[in-house]
Amino acid sequence: MDHLPTIIQGGMGAGVSSWQLAQAVSQQGQLGVVSGTALDQIFARRLQDGDPGGHMRRALDQFPFPLMAERAWSSFYVPGGKPANASYKTVPMHTKDTPRELSELCILANFVEVFLARGSHGNPVGINYLEKIQIPHLPSLYGAMLAGVGYVLMGAGVPLKIPGVLDLLACHKPATYALHVTGAEESDDTTMSFVPLEFMECELPPLVRPKFLAIIASNTLAATMLKRANGRVDGFVIEGPAAGGHNAPPRGKLQLDEAGEPIYGERDQVDLAKIRELGLPFWLAGGYGSPEKLREALAAGATGVQVGTAFAYCAESGLREDYKQRLLTKVISGDGRVVTSSLASPTGFPFKVAQLEGTLSDGDVYSARARICDLGYLREAYKRPDGKIGYRCPGEPVSVYLSKGGKEENTVGRTCLCNALVATIGHPQVRCGRHVEKGIVTSGDDLHGITRYLPQGESTYHAADVVNELLYSQVQSEVCLP
Ligand SMILES: Cc1cc2nc3c(=O)[nH]c(=O)nc-3n(C[C@H](O)[C@H](O)[C@H](O)COP(=O)(O)O)c2cc1C
Repeated sequence: MDHLPTIIQGGMGAGVSSWQLAQAVSQQGQLGVVSGTALDQIFARRLQDGDPGGHMRRALDQFPFPLMAERAWSSFYVPGGKPANASYKTVPMHTKDTPRELSELCILANFVEVFLARGSHGNPVGINYLEKIQIPHLPSLYGAMLAGVGYVLMGAGVPLKIPGVLDLLACHKPATYALHVTGAEESDDTTMSFVPLEFMECELPPLVRPKFLAIIASNTLAATMLKRANGRVDGFVIEGPAAGGHNAPPRGKLQLDEAGEPIYGERDQVDLAKIRELGLPFWLAGGYGSPEKLREALAAGATGVQVGTAFAYCAESGLREDYKQRLLTKVISGDGRVVTSSLASPTGFPFKVAQLEGTLSDGDVYSARARICDLGYLREAYKRPDGKIGYRCPGEPVSVYLSKGGKEENTVGRTCLCNALVATIGHPQVRCGRHVEKGIVTSGDDLHGITRYLPQGESTYHAADVVNELLYSQVQSEVCLP
């Protein structure tokens, strides 16, 4: 078997695990993973910021289909960057029958991110997607594969049909993916299709089929993936509820503690003996960002760990500098706090929120924002009374959501994660020249654990510090690394 990483730097959307972070980790011989979430939007905004550093241009010059690259460049590039108080030109929202311009943007943005993360180090890089954000999957995967992505990691859903898609796209063959449409019947056509030949400007040899790792939170799901997936699954990331980002909800009826956080119990424990029996490599995630936890994972038969939080605050991550510094200051003073919100995410999944004044974790900031839904990645597709497909998000204006058959209770406390997360990486939308979207920071429970990576008296650390600390301390404790 090929060399497998001991450390996977977890995908962190949107844009927190940027190409710079993934490159820094892969350079160390571990697996750097870019986030594939909303990359079309992020790419379009980077171009409108004037492409600082010229990285987008550098990658586009290596893209195999130059006419497509030029179309996106001329649509979005603003020399010198847009004025600070100007709005970003938005990208159309995704719908089942995606317009060609949007598919092209997905292909290009995913290509660029992976191409830049690969740099010149020669080690594999991965890309992470949320299964739930289904519509961009096919063109996004194709773009990432054109850039030679080594691993595709996917969670937040049951990605049974992704392995087969990878097989087809590797041969530039047409691929399909069924969109989940609430209320649809068997006879309704919810199939999305993507035909690479319609986008190719020249012939290309077959692409490398990336390894596929499913991110799951139960051994039943792991077994289901192996039994029912339409192609090869290469391993699992087993993610527990301490992880940053979205978490799988607790099994059974949702119960909340006094602080309103979901209560996890025995039934949520993954049976690692059953995982081992499946015979595939696996990595443990969620509070495993320390040498001791890596040792524990290896002793339990894991190939290694997937770590997010420790990388989210390092110098190379895409998290905007002011948020990063303010949170690091809080952590150093013992003041960092993370809440598992059962309401914030439009997906309805628990979502971890680091408490930071001036972001949407702050009740006043949340209440001051007028609801608007104009990015739409987390919209739910549903069957309208006229039989057509509609799209709704519990984060949109309440009356609009209700008019689409949504339930009022689903709107309570919901945050527009799409706008907030893009603001969190420094591309906030500006409305009417003055209203600037505020961000939201997600983090794992072990936020305080990152102090171990901060050199004494310093307020910044690097991805290589995390990798070295995790691995070096292992050698100290005489556990043989693979
Ligand atoms: C800022 C942040 C964003 C995240 N976003 C995603 C994501 O988009 N997709 C995903 O599969 N996991 C996401 N995660 C989870 C990580 O990939 C990883 O599994 C998790 O952070 C591991 O637990 P830890 O935070 O305790 O290290 C995110 C985590 C963080 C901290």
